[in-house]
Amino acid sequence: MKKIGIGLLGLGTVGKGVANIISNPNDRHPLVGELELIAIAVRNLQKRRDISFPASILTTNAIEIINNPNIQIVVEVMGGIEPAKSLIIQAIRSGKSVVTANKAVIARHGEEIANEAKAAGVYVLIEAAVGGGIPIIEPLKQSLGGNQITKVSGIINGTTNYILSRMDKEGANYSDVLKDAQELGYAESDPAADVEGSDAADKIAILSGLAFGGTINRADIPTKGINSLEAIDVNYARKLGYGIKLLAISEKGKAQSDIQASKPLSIWVEPTLVPEDNPLAGVNGVNNAILVEGNPIGQVMFFGPGAGSGPTASAVVADILNIAGIQSMSEEKSLNLDPLLSAKSWRSCHVAEEKEISKKNYIRLIAEDAPGVIGQIGTIFGQKKISIESIVQFDAINNEAEIVVITHKIKLGKLKEALSDIQSLPQVKRIGATMGCL
Ligand code: NAP
Ligand code: HSE
Repeated sequence: MKKIGIGLLGLGTVGKGVANIISNPNDRHPLVGELELIAIAVRNLQKRRDISFPASILTTNAIEIINNPNIQIVVEVMGGIEPAKSLIIQAIRSGKSVVTANKAVIARHGEEIANEAKAAGVYVLIEAAVGGGIPIIEPLKQSLGGNQITKVSGIINGTTNYILSRMDKEGANYSDVLKDAQELGYAESDPAADVEGSDAADKIAILSGLAFGGTINRADIPTKGINSLEAIDVNYARKLGYGIKLLAISEKGKAQSDIQASKPLSIWVEPTLVPEDNPLAGVNGVNNAILVEGNPIGQVMFFGPGAGSGPTASAVVADILNIAGIQSMSEEKSLNLDPLLSAKSWRSCHVAEEKEISKKNYIRLIAEDAPGVIGQIGTIFGQKKISIESIVQFDAINNEAEIVVITHKIKLGKLKEALSDIQSLPQVKRIGATMGCL
């Protein structure tokens, strides 16, 4: 059988992991042995690299890879929006299937890319874009296809989970642990994407599109990262029996009419208090966990390493094998794509406005340590019909008290109104933090 030519765009954390698997096919699926690394694009040819293949296959000219007739599958693992997006489209137009780990591109341009792929009769597979080594994309596209999905939620950024876990367990310093996450290859080249929540928002946009069958407008997802998280909230959360995790949540709202398509999706990313006995509280380090809920499956949890060279390469190679398997069966490229492997939107989805999101909340207020303050705060919540699960006063220093409120599930619009009234109370100095709470 003729070998299947692979062109890599990028030889960083993920690219190196992919090259290692392809260069060492022993004891893996036999199809791995049918893959041949033909060329690899990098930015800097002078960089010292520990590689087990001839350096002559490295090039700085990515277009050469796209146009190389010996390459059937282009693997984009360079990251960033451009030139990655244009190279993906050029590869598709030159009749090559594409495997990419680039969630930033797919979350913003996935529909355009899927349309190009359909027109060209090639595949674009993205297993590595979400959850690192966890198989979640293909299960949503294929294995769970018979379900009406109602909710997808979980921890989908390895860097921030690694940072939060080490801060919690070791009391480690935020910037030191972020530096470690970068050295371990977990963080994005600009780690702001991890700590500000945008990487998780890209991933939940992709998962929502697959779970609910339609394209999600990425810009509609309210996103809060861990960069403004304060140690005091980690401490209070622990005292109340919670850990803090960066969660991404996507759930189907109530129907506004009988038509399924009109149900808005509530999608958001934010640091969230997780009860210590919730399975997500035990997901530590670089691990991710994704809970999918639907009918008739009930709940299914996907768990594993969410970032890093080996795990991500495992997902990339799974996609390569899916395509290689089909190509090895038919030498003739066919425009009849496997409808399960090539994801396709089948309805329109719209994302609910932030004020319509309904959830439990943690609020920390800094107020005068005086009689009646908690009563006044409680009254305002009551006036807005917001039910309080608990209200606790913590430290009081220099006549300033830290008051923590946990609400029952309420719409964010109502919470915003209540917090605005509370802030105008003369005894309330400021709102220290707001987060989600499970
Ligand atoms: P990385 O370590 O920064 O590697 C990027 C590679 O791409 C480098 O080899 C770089 O060349 C090359 N490159 C960048 N721009 C280029 C250009 N214009 N032309 C040619 N080569 C170029 O990145 P990574 O961590 O492997 O991530 C790659 C992609 O995978 C990103 O989309 C990321 O979001 C995604 N991803 C990463 C992980 C992870 O755990 N790291 C997990 C899942 C998904 P030089 O080597 O010469 O600099
Ligand atoms: N920076 C990402 C993370 C890589 O930490 O989750 C995996 O997508």
